[in-house]
Amino acid sequence: MGSERDKAHRQWYRIIAKHYDALCGPSYVSKAYPFLIDIMRRRGPVKDVLDPACGTFALDIPLVRRGYHIVGRDLSPDMLRVARENVSKARQTADLGIGDMRTLRLGRTFDAVLCLGTAFNYLWSLGDARKALRTFHMHLRRGGVLVLDVTNFDAWIKSPKNVLVQNDYRAEDGTRIAIYALNEQDLATGTHLARMITAVQGKERLDIAVDEALLKIWTKETLAGALRNAGFRPVEWWGDLRLGIRYQRSRSPRLIVVAVRD
Ligand SMILES: C[S@@+](CC[C@H](N)C(=O)[O-])C[C@H]1O[C@@H](n2cnc3c(N)ncnc32)[C@H](O)[C@@H]1O
Repeated sequence: MGSERDKAHRQWYRIIAKHYDALCGPSYVSKAYPFLIDIMRRRGPVKDVLDPACGTFALDIPLVRRGYHIVGRDLSPDMLRVARENVSKARQTADLGIGDMRTLRLGRTFDAVLCLGTAFNYLWSLGDARKALRTFHMHLRRGGVLVLDVTNFDAWIKSPKNVLVQNDYRAEDGTRIAIYALNEQDLATGTHLARMITAVQGKERLDIAVDEALLKIWTKETLAGALRNAGFRPVEWWGDLRLGIRYQRSRSPRLIVVAVRD
């Protein structure tokens, strides 16, 4: 990373990290939990898990409570700060740290890798995506399972949501958060440009971020091809981080693949 765009987007996480979980809403975690447990049980045995872009770790905490050992890494120090607070509030412990999924080398393997919530889309060049898939492969035992959750841009392109008030939210402490999104897809390069104007009005200060993030557009076919080239066998496709939602190209909000490491 390191471009002006990436720096600006890191600034976005700086002002939003504290409110990130509230913006996602409690149902994000409560619906993802049975979905993830189901996969890990069916594709197990799973005990040791790597989340290479863990964000606030909110999705992982119920799994840690359930006895899974989860190592979390993320590029954003601000998201990690909230992750540490979340772990401490839950009275749990977890190995958390800064890491870049393109270059992470922990020198050990896991039973599962969970890369959730659009993080993989941030790797907008095929070269970077391949580097991350190599990281996931190196950190999985043979037969281990990768759960990769990306935005389903096929549905987005069919029904564009390119200009929208993404959030207009008032937190319990009175903080007001407004996010206005102006998106654009470039089908020639297979990228989605997410532009956001974000305002966080606290009691004493107003933070404003104007930033953009470039995301890679994946289809079921391109993702399956990239996974096979990286030594994975795609075995399941789902349309949301919820139990039992089959993938439908023109409707699903998410494109989720479960792949086994050869
Ligand atoms: C939309 S958040 C999702 C966080 C979490 N996985 C979830 O679903 O709640 C995307 C996360 O990916 C992280 N990220 C982006 N690029 C990354 C990279 N190259 N390596 C590690 N983390 C990255 C961001 O810092 C951010 O925390």
